[in-house]
Order: sequence, then structure tokens, then C-alpha cells
Amino acid sequence: MPHFLDIHTTEQTALRHMIDQARSMKDARAGRPKGTHDDDQPLQGHMVALIFEKPSTRTRVSFDMGVRQMGGQTMVLSGSEMQLGHGETIADTARVLSRYVDLIMIRTFEESILHELAEFASVPVINGLTNRTHPCQIMADVLTYEEHRGPIAGKKVVWTGDGNNVCASFLHAAGQFGFDLTFTGPESLDPDPEFVALARAQGARIEMVRDPARAVDGADLVVADTWVSMHDSQSNRERRHNLLRPYQVNDALMSHAKPDALFMHCLPAHREEEVTSAVMDGPQSVIFDEAENRLHAQKAILRYCLGV
Ligand code: CP
Ligand code: NVA
Repeated sequence: MPHFLDIHTTEQTALRHMIDQARSMKDARAGRPKGTHDDDQPLQGHMVALIFEKPSTRTRVSFDMGVRQMGGQTMVLSGSEMQLGHGETIADTARVLSRYVDLIMIRTFEESILHELAEFASVPVINGLTNRTHPCQIMADVLTYEEHRGPIAGKKVVWTGDGNNVCASFLHAAGQFGFDLTFTGPESLDPDPEFVALARAQGARIEMVRDPARAVDGADLVVADTWVSMHDSQSNRERRHNLLRPYQVNDALMSHAKPDALFMHCLPAHREEEVTSAVMDGPQSVIFDEAENRLHAQKAILRYCLGV
């Protein structure tokens, strides 16, 4: 079953094909009204369930639009309104939904929920973010980097701040797409060592550098994300802010990167916290291209999963 659960568990050739296909599908519909169908409609007759157990703007709208542009239909479901939120098992939910729909995208909490859903579903499952990873985001980010600067292989990416779910998928992508990743943040918020080891085993240079200015030196791409993720307890908010404040991406920090370095953020951003508005709205920022590219990258992911 071609699920799309994580970047490190998907074949490299399939990942490359998805990025290239996303780019050509994007080019093919340049300038068209967003609500029009693509020339071919590979998802015609397909029904896709989009399940959200956490809030979402980009993932929700981009998946819904992507399916519609390809001629399919969607059903957007909130976890709390399903029996899933009232005691029905994930396995039973997976088996039931598989009788109705052709594909399930889920945004959830524990990674185990995603894996159980995939194990018991007889249709493909896509990871729309868990506490541990966010692979669709990083597929869009690779597409965005390559559109602006060419191949990402061999480039230096610097992750600033919390070694969270988005950082984890960047580490997976470093191994699979062959770029180097420097993490700069406090040691207590380091990314999962298992993911660091995996990327290193695949040949990516992964470094942990506590001094943000030194970390960003020579960077091709600087990335930030929120200091408090949706699954983090709000009671740790102040402690996290105090730990992460030195890692804010601002003009001074960006001045250490290469002059043509890009800035990315998966959004939603907290302006003047993890990144200043000057950087977000500045010439190096490609944050809204990233947001747009969620649509194009996920259309290719959907086609991969459905084999169309
Ligand atoms: N970047 C991202 O996944 O955004 P949403 O939470 O709005 O879906
Ligand atoms: N790390 C963030 C990403 C949001 C898209 C979170 O999990 O809340």
C-alpha cells in the first residue's frame, strides 16, 4: 500500500518523482483561476477524507483544493466530531473509512495513531502532521528551494530553535535528498537522536551548533518554526521562550548566511518571536511560496498514493 507516512520511509526515487511532478503540474496550470480543473483529472471518481485532530489552515485548504483541481472530491472531518474522539478504536475507524473513501489524510497527535490507521486501512494514508513529523511540509519546502535556487543536494540548511516535528522531517529529507543540516538551538530541545543518526548514516552532514551566528555561517537556507507547537503544553511556554530567544531569526543573524540564502517558515509564525517581520517580509523570505507549494507538492503525493 503506497502510504505517505514519512520522508525517510518513502523511496528516494519516488520522492524525486513527486517533486518533479509537482513542479510540472504547477507550471502547467500557471495563470489559471484556482478553482478550475487541471487538464487531466487523475482523481476523477476518487473520494478523499481529510481528518483533523488539531487546527490547520494550510494543510486543510491545500489538500482540499488539490483534490478538487485533480477532479476528486473531499470530506473534511474533525476528529472530535467523529466516534474516534469518543472511544472507537483507530483500527475500527480505519476499517470503516476504507469502505467509503479512497484515501485518508490525517493530522493527529501521537505518531502511533497514524501508524495504526495505516496498518488497518485498506486505502492509502497520508501524514498531515503528527507530534513527531510533518513530511508534506518538507516536500513543499524542497520544491520551493529548488524552484528558487536549483538542486538542494549538497546545500547547507540551518534549522533554528526547537528540534520539533518539522525539524524531524527536515532531517529525514537531508538523508533522502542529500543536503547538510545544522541544528542551532538549546541542547534540551535537540532533535531526536535517532533521526540525526539516520540522516548521518545516509551520508548527510548533520551538526549541532549552540552559537546561532556560527551555525548560520555560510548557510544556503535558514529555517524557523514556532517555539511552542500545538502538542506542547502551554505551561512550558515561558521556559521555552526564555530558552529560545537567542535563536530568533533577525537581520543580524541572516547577515551571517550566504548573501543569496533563503528564509523559510512553515507558518503559522509568531512575528517578533522566532522571526522578525523584517526577515519574514524581506527579500530572502519565500514563506508564501512555501505555503503555495503545499498545494502542488501534495497533489503529487496524492497521485503517488493512488497510483494515478
Ligand atoms: N504549515 C502548516 O502545516 O500549516 P497549518 O497548520 O495551517 O496546516
Ligand atoms: N511545529 C508546529 C508546526 C505547525 C504547522 C506544530 O506542530 O504546531
